[in-house]
Amino acid sequence: MAVIKTENVIKKFRDLVAVDGVSMEIEDGECFGLLGPNGAGKTSLIRMITAISPISSGEVWVAGKDLKKNSRELKSLLGVVPQIDNLDPDLTVLQNLLTFARYFEIPRKEAERRSMEALRTFQLTEKRNSKIKELSGGMKRRLLIARGLINQPKILILDEPTVGLDPQTRHLLWQKLKELKSQGITQLLCTQNMEEAALLCDRVAIMHLGKIVVVDTPLNLISQYVGEKLWEIEPASPQERAEIIRELESHHIEHEEVGAMIKAFHVDSDDLARKLLVRPRQATLEDVFFRLTKGSLVE
Ligand SMILES: Nc1ncnc2c1ncn2[C@@H]1O[C@H](COP(=O)(O)OP(=O)(O)OP(=O)(O)O)[C@@H](O)[C@H]1O
Ligand SMILES: [Mg+2]
Repeated sequence: MAVIKTENVIKKFRDLVAVDGVSMEIEDGECFGLLGPNGAGKTSLIRMITAISPISSGEVWVAGKDLKKNSRELKSLLGVVPQIDNLDPDLTVLQNLLTFARYFEIPRKEAERRSMEALRTFQLTEKRNSKIKELSGGMKRRLLIARGLINQPKILILDEPTVGLDPQTRHLLWQKLKELKSQGITQLLCTQNMEEAALLCDRVAIMHLGKIVVVDTPLNLISQYVGEKLWEIEPASPQERAEIIRELESHHIEHEEVGAMIKAFHVDSDDLARKLLVRPRQATLEDVFFRLTKGSLVE
């Protein structure tokens, strides 16, 4: 069953269409990745799904219910980690968690227990009485994640949660997300980190210019759009470039010129590799991302 379903969702800011007709389904218990260049509309989509910003048109269902009609009830199922820190600067670390717990009507004693546990998990116990402005960037992000878990959500929605985290903390969060997934918690994870997406997500959607371009498992996306192996060739001269392209074309090898480099996809000819003096490299989700979001800096 789809835990989150959107149908032709649109977000407009005056005459700018930030989300341009997104229909998607996130299955119960899966980790669903949302990738896309800056300005693709990821945060705008997430803010509608989490009932933070109004839907311009289209439908969103959460746990089978219409979000517009049941937003208060459905919000209690969601744990949200926003992209931009919206912690209360006038409160301490612990007070931020306790205040947040009050929105969900969690009894005080239980709220304290959960807050202390969350602080322990994200190594913030020593900072519990510090003001927000006394935290480092990464500590604020950790607190934001801890806060998103305080209502023990059935569905976790994270907008670039690992930005600015040190490698240890990033691994700690990945571990935590895997653990939550094994407990059946559905996750919508927006990220710019392709390694993270490939590691954690069952399926990923690539968003570009307000639209979802593709949705599939990371492995399927790699095998469909770039192949398991690829070549990156930097010709030494225009003549060499022309020759390489002629070779690739005569072998019907899909290729693309990226600046000074030629990228060749779905390569499996060892003979040609030897002739062109290239070594195949394992394709990654990042290669898929580049292919599907070309020209994103032009707009
Ligand atoms: N409150 C707003 N008012 C006007 N335009 C907005 C607003 N929020 C976002 N936009 C515009 O909507 C588009 C999509 O922005 P959005 O924040 O959803 O992108 P994103 O995919 O999350 O990007 P990033 O990777 O940088 O976080 C952008 O063109 C942005 O300028
Ligand atoms: Mg964003």
